[in-house]
Amino acid sequence: MRSHGCGDLRSESSGQAVQLCGWVDRRRDHGGVIFIDLRDRSGSLQITVDPDLSAEAFAVAEHLRNETVLQVEGTVRNRPTESINDRLATGHIEVLASSITVLNSVRGNLPFQVSVHDDEQVREELRLRHRYLDLRRERMNGNLRLRAQTIQAARRHLEDQGFIEVETPVLTRSTPEGARDYLVPSRVCGGEWFALPQSPQLFKQLLMVGGIERYYQVARCFRDEDLRADRQPEFTQLDIEMSFMDQEQILELNETLIASIWKAVKGVDLPRPFPRLTWHEAMDRFGTDRPDTRYGMELTTVSDLVKDMGFKVFSGAVASGGSVKCIAVAGGNEAISNVRIKPGGDVFSEAQAAGAGGLAFIRVRDGGEIDTIGAIKDNLSEAIKAELLERTGAQPGTLLLFGAGDTATVNKALDRVRQYLARELNLVTPDKENSTWNFLWVVDFPMFEFNAEENRLEALHHPFCAPNTADLGDDPSQWAATLPTARAQAYDLVLNGLELGGGSLRIHNSDLQRQVLQTIGLPLEEANQQFGFLMDALDMGAPPHGGLAFGIDRMVMLLAGEDSIRDTIAFPKTQQARCLMTGAPGGVATKQLDELHVASTWEEEDA
Ligand code: AMO
Repeated sequence: MRSHGCGDLRSESSGQAVQLCGWVDRRRDHGGVIFIDLRDRSGSLQITVDPDLSAEAFAVAEHLRNETVLQVEGTVRNRPTESINDRLATGHIEVLASSITVLNSVRGNLPFQVSVHDDEQVREELRLRHRYLDLRRERMNGNLRLRAQTIQAARRHLEDQGFIEVETPVLTRSTPEGARDYLVPSRVCGGEWFALPQSPQLFKQLLMVGGIERYYQVARCFRDEDLRADRQPEFTQLDIEMSFMDQEQILELNETLIASIWKAVKGVDLPRPFPRLTWHEAMDRFGTDRPDTRYGMELTTVSDLVKDMGFKVFSGAVASGGSVKCIAVAGGNEAISNVRIKPGGDVFSEAQAAGAGGLAFIRVRDGGEIDTIGAIKDNLSEAIKAELLERTGAQPGTLLLFGAGDTATVNKALDRVRQYLARELNLVTPDKENSTWNFLWVVDFPMFEFNAEENRLEALHHPFCAPNTADLGDDPSQWAATLPTARAQAYDLVLNGLELGGGSLRIHNSDLQRQVLQTIGLPLEEANQQFGFLMDALDMGAPPHGGLAFGIDRMVMLLAGEDSIRDTIAFPKTQQARCLMTGAPGGVATKQLDELHVASTWEEEDA
């Protein structure tokens, strides 16, 4: 139907007869001559329709609406100098139409315009409802191509290294990754359920037992969890597992993978090796296990310094086992007024949203004198002042913001305030060195964290991570005692403050695996019932193995400079886990439920 792509033609083709297909991007009637911008996936091109050349083509062009699908025949010619458009790749030429065929017309109103010339901000709800039209827009079309390029680069790199792609089941049993499962009832095994995989974790380990040695998969994963800009109920992992490699080798292999993706997609040479932080250091200095290290404002612990100064909020926090930490905001004295830090203010609200009661603060005035209010003011001795300035590196003009309480909440609040202020104060600008692609490995995660609600330990990553052998010790009879505080041989890759991927070495000893499952509160019998197949496999010559999974949607989001993974997925779900285009999820016929031996207990008022 066509000889060329619209965006592929250049001056060299001048004089050539061509056939093109595409959509009407826009149409301009210049009294006597009609110009059509014809768009296909390669770009757009001006079609000039002159009634003197073809009255039939002109008659068709007169009534064209945007997004009509056309086939155009004509001749390429150079544009007159005065109408050259240097901003367009095809801006030096046009195609003089000899015939125009309408392949399909647009009926009804378009919910929004596709053309880049129309920069109306379209509501996301409308875009998702008519996603096919949204995908036709340059931005989304570009994102999907970038996604395909990313996956292609990853595949190429991994296959060059001897990895093979293996598909793992989607109908399976629960693989714990910390979210709720999506369940599928079995018709043939009445009363029993499949779970959709939260990740292919156990299957990839079993592939290692199966001698595959180097596995990867572009794997769809399903997690029923609270959704955010970087979370979808179904998302895609670049899932990797390998045998006979230690942590250093695994990190090295993954760095080269990331570097080759960035080279292929962005043309950049990432500096390597990526920096590393231990989990403890990350929590201490940034209050989070995925720190954004593109800017300073690190957290400083001052518990020891302020615990006895006579300010109840501080002393109370430390006495009950918590901490007092602060961040030093350079220039904050000028930029952030008291109103913003006190109840109702924007900075206060950020801290509050993370569970903090508020923020104490100290201003270092331009002359260097210290200013604060309330109870801190009355209790701040010269010695403490001097030490505070020393520890935080505060200079004239600095604002010190304090969090006090249980350490987890203090960390959460100051992390949130730190990120908020970095945005507010424009601390991340693309021209700053290292500010574009700030990769960081976080290593040495603890095996477990305490779940206060359920009063038990739970796995920080998942219960298949291998503990650090030095922390565990050689004596299996001591494992029950050494495991709870052991570090895991686990690692996360963080990019610009976002968790891009994570993985670990795995347990390949069934006794240790049982012990870990018991540590998270799974009775032995239940552990055997749920994970007996894994333990059996571990006993049949499981090699030492480990791996990692990257979130492809997040990777593409960062590569594309988007703020939400919804803009990197062809047909994403809303925050309510709904597909606005197809209307899924929806009701089903009672007969289907009967066949599945399922009855609904849903009542409208539950909503
Ligand atoms: P983890 O749970 O850390 O590890 O997931 C790996 C990566 O997947 C991405 N990710 C998500 N992306 C979009 N929406 C979600 N709901 C979502 N959840 C996770 C993140 C994350 O870093 N089996 C282990 C990996 C391993 O140990 O090898 C796992 O799934 O980018």
